[in-house]
Amino acid sequence: MAYKVMLIENNRVMLERLSSVIRGIDNYELEARFQQSGDALGQGAMYKPELILLDIDSGHNLALIPEFASVYPNAAILCLSSNWDPQNAAKMVQFGAKGYLIKPFTAKEFMEAVDTFGKTGMAASSETLAFFSPKGKSGKTTLIANLALSLARKSGEAVGVIDADLQFGDMSVFFNLSPQSTIVEATRDIKFLSPITLNSYFMEVPEVDKMRILCGTKKPDYAELVDIENFEELVKMAQSLFRYVLIDLPPGVNPISISAAELYTKTYMVSMISGGYEILHVKRALEIFKAWPNVEEKLRPVFTRVSPCEETQKRWLSQEIKFPVHAIIPNEYLMVSAAANDGRMAVENKSGSQFAENINRMADDIIVRRSGGSL
Ligand SMILES: Nc1ncnc2c1ncn2[C@@H]1O[C@H](COP(=O)(O)OP(=O)(O)O)[C@@H](O)[C@H]1O
Ligand SMILES: [Mg+2]
Repeated sequence: MAYKVMLIENNRVMLERLSSVIRGIDNYELEARFQQSGDALGQGAMYKPELILLDIDSGHNLALIPEFASVYPNAAILCLSSNWDPQNAAKMVQFGAKGYLIKPFTAKEFMEAVDTFGKTGMAASSETLAFFSPKGKSGKTTLIANLALSLARKSGEAVGVIDADLQFGDMSVFFNLSPQSTIVEATRDIKFLSPITLNSYFMEVPEVDKMRILCGTKKPDYAELVDIENFEELVKMAQSLFRYVLIDLPPGVNPISISAAELYTKTYMVSMISGGYEILHVKRALEIFKAWPNVEEKLRPVFTRVSPCEETQKRWLSQEIKFPVHAIIPNEYLMVSAAANDGRMAVENKSGSQFAENINRMADDIIVRRSGGSL
């Protein structure tokens, strides 16, 4: 049985064009089409669409989404627009639409939209977790890779990782990926992308259904090709694709960590214990972050390679930096490097270890926070 589609598009030429695309797709039947949303809503008893494509560029169609949802309770609603607008996207989801498709679309884009949004719908709200380190070699990428995996497994929701460590990005190495496209292409193309087309810039992670990675630059000198404003657009769009967005930021204070900071739900400041100077570096970085009005809420210091990895140590570090330390990760060089070498993560390979336990606790904290409940 073909999947029944109702199309509402005010512009006559566009209506024809989109109709012919839909008619050309196997297993989809264009059951009805209208120029006016009022006409479509008046036909409740006549049609039983399973998918409604609703143009939101004209009239009050955006505000009519709840009415469409009540007249056609068995239909998934995808909005059509000629350009992507994050504010409209947020409203659409609130009103009950499942996703967004830029018009005109090809059969392939249509299928991708149905595939991406059909099952889970667009993310209604997203937790964006940024990871920054005062200095390089902090255990940041190791932490993100393991935490992302833990989040995907525990929550069953979509997790997207953006490798924005423009000079030293190596997230792809951790997962043995050879990226076809990277953050350079994604930020370059962003003005022409929608969530669906952006999704294809993210690489799938083998054997992990819900997790995707936007890999970093292949050469350090590509770093300057990433425009900050475009990067912010990219983050906003990723927020509508993934429930959790994890961003690997460059070390040191950087426009990407500072200017885009209001987009991040939390910023994790990651430092590796190795000799003692890191405490000083963390304190210096804290001076900068303390300018944020809600720093206590938004900033989460994490220390890696902590030995012994115990509560007393966490308390001592908190006293030293005069700020609550969010988490400590044990010294497990062999475990994390052996795991990363074969493209697997220690959080799964060594699931009973203290390393895995501490990472899983960080994931629980993120998941609980968004559901508003408590463990
Ligand atoms: N918890 C840890 N204990 C010991 N060594 C670690 C730990 N986390 C990472 N490392 C090692 O430290 C080095 C840098 O880690 P990485 O995650 O790439 O840091 P960054 O992204 O900050 O450069 C790697 O060799 C990694 O194996
Ligand atoms: Mg790194």
